[in-house]
Amino acid sequence: MDKLLTIEAVAATEAGAIAAARLMGRGDRKGADQAAVEAMRRAMEEADLSGTIVIGEGERDEAPMLYIGEKVGNPDAATQVDIAVDPLEGTNLVATGSANATAVLAAAEPGGLMHAPDTYLRKLIVGPQVAGHVSIDDPVDQTIATIAERLGRSPWDITVVILDRPRHEELIAAVRSAGARIKLISDGDLTAGISVAVSGTGVHAVIGTGGAPEGVLTAAALKCLGGEIQAKFEWRSDEEKERGRRMGIDVDDASRVYLTADLASGQDVVFCASGVTDGELLRGVRFFGGGARTHSLVMSHRRGLVRFIDTVHMFDNQRPPRVRL
Ligand code: FBP
Repeated sequence: MDKLLTIEAVAATEAGAIAAARLMGRGDRKGADQAAVEAMRRAMEEADLSGTIVIGEGERDEAPMLYIGEKVGNPDAATQVDIAVDPLEGTNLVATGSANATAVLAAAEPGGLMHAPDTYLRKLIVGPQVAGHVSIDDPVDQTIATIAERLGRSPWDITVVILDRPRHEELIAAVRSAGARIKLISDGDLTAGISVAVSGTGVHAVIGTGGAPEGVLTAAALKCLGGEIQAKFEWRSDEEKERGRRMGIDVDDASRVYLTADLASGQDVVFCASGVTDGELLRGVRFFGGGARTHSLVMSHRRGLVRFIDTVHMFDNQRPPRVRL
């Protein structure tokens, strides 16, 4: 099943990335998102899979396509999958031409990905060497000290990514006083969360509160890469709690920590991301006369496969004058 899935998944994220990248720097985050959604949805129509969107663009009345519950692909196909998408992770990043925007899709056997509402999760994300040694309930200085020890470094050689939001003022102060370096990002804790598990990106942890759907997608990536996400829901209103309840979450248990295996419990988890703008993990889309080149990460938990794919796409079946390395 997952051989087919990885091929179909990368076709969808490549299509989403190309469509969004066309609109880079236009100041139009909604337009870029819509372009990615439409392109990804079109690519899914070709897929020989019977898919159900479990994380997407919102509830049916909010989104015309890729809404939660939408059926995609071929309803008669033998392979059934649940699909989580973020067609454009970092809408503002594309609108401003900033780094690290990606198009993302994860899939698993039915029931293999948590159904999470579009609310907030408090997250602690660490790489494979640190997984199992930290707790989201521990004080931040203790967490930084453990990460440093596990990686054989000093705290001041550790870089923590934090979303630059007023809600993180105390967290930022605590990380600073623990001695670690901080990279404040304007958007994109999903892409940063994947980077934590990839050596050479220079990111050692992501801490703070961001979107719950991004948390599930991060878990799917970490299931394939190793590393760990720990997360707690942060409900801001009764209305959010009600949405959580409808998705089967025990919203009254504030102490519940969701681990990677809770957010992405499937055994056939596949994860795919294509770069939209250049970033630490992936190159962005590069256009040339008659085509474009994309850079993607495709992973399968079952097969233990992590593959970077560099693809040249010719539009209208043209031939490139010359393919370059
Ligand atoms: P969009 O791509 O939907 O614009 O959001 C990106 C993002 O920065 C996520 O990476 C992050 O989890 C979330 O938004 C944070 O939400 P908020 O902007 O409300 O703090």
